[in-house]
Amino acid sequence: GKDKGLIRGSWESLGKNKVPHGVIMFSLFELDPALLSLFHYDANCSSRQDCLASPEFLDHVTKQVMLVIDAAVSHLDDLHSLEDFLVNLGRKHKAAGVSTQSFAAVGESLLYMLQCSLGQAYTAPLRQAWLNMYSIVVAAMSRGWAE
Ligand code: HEM
Repeated sequence: GKDKGLIRGSWESLGKNKVPHGVIMFSLFELDPALLSLFHYDANCSSRQDCLASPEFLDHVTKQVMLVIDAAVSHLDDLHSLEDFLVNLGRKHKAAGVSTQSFAAVGESLLYMLQCSLGQAYTAPLRQAWLNMYSIVVAAMSRGWAE
């Protein structure tokens, strides 16, 4: 009830501008630069700056992660309908060498982005509502490691 209202209300404008808000989530790699090495599509990705500028990395943060969050927000009433998609997404991350612990850093980045973008509207209950939703997404993705 209340959680869903807080999430929908705050995502309304953010979701329309996924790229700039995804860019703020780049802070993830300030928290844990080692995660950058998992984006090794680009053989020329030798320095940290090169990696940050690679299209694969940019697409992941500004589009792919944001689209999953967008899907979760639009399915708040039936998050279980995303279960198969999310378990499969987890499987892909397992195959890419990602560890489930790394998802916490993405969660931190998501909260940081919300705080930057929402200002005064970023309240403790709103933070908790987002954390709850993100935890459900991560729990489903993590089931991709179990099989
Ligand atoms: C794909 C890394 C977290 C959403 C990928 C791929 C990598 C990657 C390397 C490419 C996989 C491949 O095509 O073989 C990471 C790392 C993460 C992380 C290092 C944590 C630090 C997340 C989270 C989400 C997400 C939390 C969603 C909430 C996606 C999506 C794709 C993807 C939608 C595309 C999958 C597809 O091609 O079907 N990620 N990821 N990632 N990631 Fe992540």
